Amino acid sequence: MCGIVGAVAQRDITPILLQGLKRLEYRGYDSCGVAVHSDGELRRARSTQRVAELESQVQREHLSGFTGIAHTRWATHGAPATHNAHPHFSGQGKGVARIALVHNGIIENYEELRTELQAVGYVFESQTDTEVIAHLIDHLYGGDLFEAVQQATRRLNGAYAIAVFCRDEPHRVVGARHGSPLVVGRGKNENFLASDALALAGTTDQIIYLEDGDIVDLQLARVWIVDVDGHSVEREVHTVHIHTGAAELGPYRHYMQKEIFEQPRAVGDTLQAIESITPELFGDGAYKVFKNIDNLLILACGTSYYAGLTARYWIESIAKIPVNVEIASEYRYRDSVPNPRTLVVTISQSGETADTLAALKHARGLGMENTLTICNVATSAMVRECKLSYITRAGVEIGVASTKAFTTQLTALFLLTLALAQANGRLSDEEEAEQLKALRHLPVAIGAVLALEPQIMAWADRFATKENALFLGRGMHYPIALEGALKLKEISYIHAEAYPAGELKHGPLALVTEHMPVVTIAPRDGLLEKLKSNMQEVHARGGELYVFADADTKIGSSDGIHVIRMPEHYGKLSPILHTIPLQLLAYHTACARGTDVDKPRNLAKSVTVE
Ligand code: F6R
Repeated sequence: MCGIVGAVAQRDITPILLQGLKRLEYRGYDSCGVAVHSDGELRRARSTQRVAELESQVQREHLSGFTGIAHTRWATHGAPATHNAHPHFSGQGKGVARIALVHNGIIENYEELRTELQAVGYVFESQTDTEVIAHLIDHLYGGDLFEAVQQATRRLNGAYAIAVFCRDEPHRVVGARHGSPLVVGRGKNENFLASDALALAGTTDQIIYLEDGDIVDLQLARVWIVDVDGHSVEREVHTVHIHTGAAELGPYRHYMQKEIFEQPRAVGDTLQAIESITPELFGDGAYKVFKNIDNLLILACGTSYYAGLTARYWIESIAKIPVNVEIASEYRYRDSVPNPRTLVVTISQSGETADTLAALKHARGLGMENTLTICNVATSAMVRECKLSYITRAGVEIGVASTKAFTTQLTALFLLTLALAQANGRLSDEEEAEQLKALRHLPVAIGAVLALEPQIMAWADRFATKENALFLGRGMHYPIALEGALKLKEISYIHAEAYPAGELKHGPLALVTEHMPVVTIAPRDGLLEKLKSNMQEVHARGGELYVFADADTKIGSSDGIHVIRMPEHYGKLSPILHTIPLQLLAYHTACARGTDVDKPRNLAKSVTVE
């Protein structure tokens, strides 16, 4: 989502701010901006282009300073226009700007505050909810920025992380967070703020993770934190080694392509060097928890939700424990019937998704204290909030469309399935050995599927001319069809829907004509014959079938049926392998259509607003 960087130093901080923005740009890219304290005044540059353009603007306008803040925006309130770009200023009405502020999140009572501030003479330049915070702080400012921020945040409803500085206090930046992430980076006689430690890689590795309600006073040689109750607190300083190699594209055209091809490594790393299945892989005390639960409640959004849907098939079939999977943003607002003997599992690449975090808190509020997360970021709020966790080792995912994060989530969820089965006496030694063998072979098996890329590229050229597509799967491959359709629509902008193949005749078959490509996932499993009948229903209506079939399915290419053969059938782990060609199809179709693959329109990585 939006990205924040802030700095107080004794050197020009614009290169640090811009570098930080470049690292966060994939999170939100509707506009960007930077503001600095320069010769006693506030100066800023803002752009609706990419950070590289902002950098040229900063150079052209000779913007430099020792104190400053910067932002990349994913628009919520107000179009992606320059006047809505952060940083927002306040105080111009009185001659020159006094307050500069950037914000991630959403202020729910901004209309009420706006009316109040307009009544005392503030003139609004933007349609954002953010500008009210800048004016509110200016309005409350009595010579101490920290105090003004403290008073202002008491008036805000919603989620926010903010960084703010003041013309009259040149060596000070104040930050505050409630519901959106914010970290402090400690340096020697210089200090930094960012919405993610990644932004500060190469500048400092000394990171403090602020907690909800914290307000931080950043000066050259001082970091002072006050908690939600107004008490001064010490927060632990973590040494965080961030691998910036993720930012190198290497021989690939896009990060998404690079990340698709990284999957053998990512899945291998996620499996670590696991010798045997034990619940303790998920944290101390996991055995006791796994043994004493009645059911699982999986909460997630988007692609992570589809990982959860796949896991339900595995867990119910192997561990024989009932599983509910819910879209986090729906679960948090519906009346449900809690069971304290539920294991609540959140799945999140970023570990900061606002809806998933809120759903987790909601579940806990209903008395469900057994919580586990499958997450790609060890330092994220999700990991901190859950009793148990398993960290996927996908590495930083830059492409907005999730790829390696998904397959590593599936890998971790399969491990969870085996651990649950074992704790409940449903995994024999032979089965454990067999499943571990299959897991260890996964990186090689994924590598073999990646080799299908040239064949998939030929299909992609045809797909690029379409405006609609259907995806079919059955059983545990139905969630994979959903994921394939999501990938295609989010990066190629082709309208795509997924259905369980047996559901087609209950309505969607009406859409099938010779213009409708129908992507079909055809593994050699117990549902294959049923699936073949469903394919015939499509074929008979002139629909064009594009089938990813396991080698031994005996489905052959013919008029209107195109087949790419998967190298081998992979049993229960087949959904992981069948994901790969769908990622490649979406990727190459998007390339053929010339879209911005890594930064698809209207989207952002890490959705930290509701
Ligand atoms: C789609 C995609 C999103 C995320 C969703 C949840 O390609 O990436 O649907 O899966 O926003 O994000 P996390 O996993 O960070 O909670």
